Amino acid sequence: MCGIVGYVGKRDSADVLVDALKKLEYRGYDSAGIAVFEDNKIKVAKSKGKLKDLIQKMDTEGKPQGTAGIGHTRWATHGEPSDINSHPHSGAKVTLVHNGIIENYKELKDFLVKQGRDFLSDTDTEVVAQLLDYYYAKIKEPISAIIETTQELRGSFALGIVFEDYPNTVYAVRRESPLIVGIGQGENFIASDVPAIIKYTKDYYLLEHDEIAVLSPNGVEVFDSHSQPIEKELKTADWDVDAVGKCGYPHYMIKEINEQPTAIRNTVTPRIKDGMPCLEECNITPEMLRGIRNIFIVACGTAMHSGMVGKYVIEELARTAVTVDIASEFRYRNPIIGEGDLIIIVSQSGETADSLAAMRLAKEKGAKTLAIVNAMGSTIAREADMLIYTHAGPEISVASTKAYMVQLSVMYLFAFELAYAKGQIDEDKLKYYTSKLLETSERVADVIAQTTELSQKISTKLVTADSLLYIGRGLDYALSMEGSLKLKEISYIHSESYAAGELKHGTISLITPEMPVIAVATQSALFEKTVSNIKEVKARGAKVIMICQEGCDISPDIANYVLRVPAFEEILLPMLVCVPLQLIAYYTSVQRGNDVDQPRNLAKSVTVE
Ligand code: M6R
Repeated sequence: MCGIVGYVGKRDSADVLVDALKKLEYRGYDSAGIAVFEDNKIKVAKSKGKLKDLIQKMDTEGKPQGTAGIGHTRWATHGEPSDINSHPHSGAKVTLVHNGIIENYKELKDFLVKQGRDFLSDTDTEVVAQLLDYYYAKIKEPISAIIETTQELRGSFALGIVFEDYPNTVYAVRRESPLIVGIGQGENFIASDVPAIIKYTKDYYLLEHDEIAVLSPNGVEVFDSHSQPIEKELKTADWDVDAVGKCGYPHYMIKEINEQPTAIRNTVTPRIKDGMPCLEECNITPEMLRGIRNIFIVACGTAMHSGMVGKYVIEELARTAVTVDIASEFRYRNPIIGEGDLIIIVSQSGETADSLAAMRLAKEKGAKTLAIVNAMGSTIAREADMLIYTHAGPEISVASTKAYMVQLSVMYLFAFELAYAKGQIDEDKLKYYTSKLLETSERVADVIAQTTELSQKISTKLVTADSLLYIGRGLDYALSMEGSLKLKEISYIHSESYAAGELKHGTISLITPEMPVIAVATQSALFEKTVSNIKEVKARGAKVIMICQEGCDISPDIANYVLRVPAFEEILLPMLVCVPLQLIAYYTSVQRGNDVDQPRNLAKSVTVE
């Protein structure tokens, strides 16, 4: 989704803004622009396309010169990607950039047209710029004009604003959409996310709803929605510049796949006490766990797939019913939930609009909410009743890998503790499972080392396929869903995941020699049954890639390729097996020459419905 940056200081602001926007490229965008104070006038440069197109345009038409400004990468919602629709947008004295959606922009536009105002673009953002300009013309004071304007807006917004009458000052305000204020030495910043500014400062404020920040090179003031100054708590990012660089890897995705062992260690180890999971610092107590009636895991995309694995594990170990819901469905299906129910919201970004709305709905209905979130200080993290942070560090590639891995690790920690609290497993079993979970970090490192070459080879066989099928049963089916999503989002090859036992009820008619099948068969209890399903597709000409444990006896006629992962505690195998699935998707995308880290049409953080 859109990215916002802003700078005031002594440096060349166009350079800083473009550099910071590069760090937000992962969010996905289709145009970019900046506005800079040049000789006390606001000069705008903007262009459809990528940042390189903007840079090229500034090379030919002139780069705005100055030491304060705002910048934006746009992911089109209102109006096609074009130079005109790109941000910044301006009124007579006001220029701004916007992330979010203004739901009542049409009625505001009608009002402004009646006031004689002209519009150049199709965007909701230009309506905000004109409305702010309208109030500023009346009030002649920025903060009051911002308050008047935001009171009229419905929807979500983070705004970076400059007023021509206030050179070298940047204003910012937010509601729902994320925005931070970076605090430097003689320079200050705004940004949608920490990676944009980490090169310059690790210190920042989290702006709350309707708070207004005023940035000058010498300091930052923050006001509430009644113009009253407020004190903000200074936060410090606990990772460094390397965390947001590629560090020699060709893509963020492969870097992040390789970071998984560390991410697991960072997430699991601090939650173990005396060999057992301890989530008390997350407000999760044995008493609370014993009181849970039903569990709903609600999320989107990959995060939802981690919930699918969680469902199998929690139901198997804790014998507690779990429903997994897609957040955009959950929020509109009037779910039957209430006191005694636990809603687990899983989100890497902590800002996904549907997941956030689902969580708020669950709270309204009296259920308890537990968030499993990676991004520190994000909205979902702040609003949940209970919170488990995953410590994957910043995930830049749009295709989620290490965040999924640590979401799985938290699902296990939670399932083990719940099973123990409910008396379904004893202390010895709990300690055994916990020790195995701790071991996964090393085993995942082994799997990366052992499966990279074969995954790369297998991807050469998939690169020309039009469509693929992923099949499995139980936990392997839950995992297949993620394998399939990973492949399609970055390789653009259609694929579906299917419960292996369900194939013969319709989908098997699709099988031809042209449709490769990736069969995941790691669970002993279901192994023979999955092998029978594999034989069914093989008999119809499918090329089969099978993923199983080392030591499995597989006759040569069953699969064209067999990818083996180390034999391990079976319930934990999803954490190992997801690695070759990620690698296959990655190498297929690379071979197809795709933009691996920023696949077409996708955004990292989906802050609109
Ligand atoms: O930030 P979230 O975890 O809430 O995001 C949810 C999905 O948008 C995300 O997992 C998406 O499916 C990824 N692109 C998958 O790789």
